[in-house]
Amino acid sequence: MTPPVIDVHSHFVPQGWPDLAALTGTDGEWPWLRQINDVSAMIMLGNKDFRPIDQSCWSPEHRLADMDVDGIDMQVVSPTPVFFHYQHAAADAERIASVFNDLALSMCVAAPSRLVPFCQVPLQDTEAACRELDRCLDLGHVGVEIGNHVGDRDLDDGGIVEFLQHCAHRDVAVFVHPWDMQATPRNQRWMAQWLVGMPAETHLSILALILGGVFDRVSSDLRLCFAHGGGSFAMWSGRMDNAWSRRPDVIATSQLPPSAYVDRFSVDSVVFDTKALRLLVDTHGSNRVMLGSDYPYPLGERPAGAVINRADFISATQRESMLGGNAEVFLGARLTTWQQQMENPA
Ligand code: CO
Repeated sequence: MTPPVIDVHSHFVPQGWPDLAALTGTDGEWPWLRQINDVSAMIMLGNKDFRPIDQSCWSPEHRLADMDVDGIDMQVVSPTPVFFHYQHAAADAERIASVFNDLALSMCVAAPSRLVPFCQVPLQDTEAACRELDRCLDLGHVGVEIGNHVGDRDLDDGGIVEFLQHCAHRDVAVFVHPWDMQATPRNQRWMAQWLVGMPAETHLSILALILGGVFDRVSSDLRLCFAHGGGSFAMWSGRMDNAWSRRPDVIATSQLPPSAYVDRFSVDSVVFDTKALRLLVDTHGSNRVMLGSDYPYPLGERPAGAVINRADFISATQRESMLGGNAEVFLGARLTTWQQQMENPA
């Protein structure tokens, strides 16, 4: 049977979240939504414009119509990273996460066979992150999206590794998204934080898991997917191996050279160029590349999956895996549970 076509990388922004200053009892540049009209709005940070968005962010009907146009059966709906709030007090981030996670569910229950909710957690506090994850799993969330770092703590940080181990233990898929890129005068021009910063951030996160010895320690059951094709990782796998052999005094902190870990995680396909997709398939194998679009944002791919559909170097079987079969494995049993629970509520 042909697997469904699944987009593992999309975002939502809900409407109607409470005033976060009131919710947390603290002043600050909390995000709020300035509604422009029925179909468009501006995400505000304090009194500054952050990002214009439209109804594709909050309307399940609009989203489903776009999915129909693109031939997407199912979409993983993840938070938008600006709402992670890892930089704030954990208790505040936990409160905000629970509000947004509940709103994600209410959007996805509009079409549980097609919209698959991923939650967010207050990753700055391992106990709070595990607690919010567990609460969300009870409610039906299928996976979790995390930012690729918490301030100066990378993915090899003890607390974050403990959270990842908890995810492996709970059999839950983890989608890693770059965020909170360095803001310097040089990368604040054009969209350099997105065009250069994000791929470098993602590369650094994968490197931290490898050279921080995390893959040597954590359960191989941990299911990870990195956004944007894993950033610049695949391009530089040879450079990292060379450094690992030539400068063992500095970086041979993993049991094996970096390229030996390429089958411990997956990457999405939102790289636009078939030459880049080919590199991902050559590096990670077709079982480790999954359709992702970054819908509905302007740097995302429309129609979703176009680069996979255009690729002439993969077999029909590989294409099916990349369009959906791999995502079914990534999402695991929780996908079926979510769909059955929501379609046949007790
Ligand atoms: Co994204």
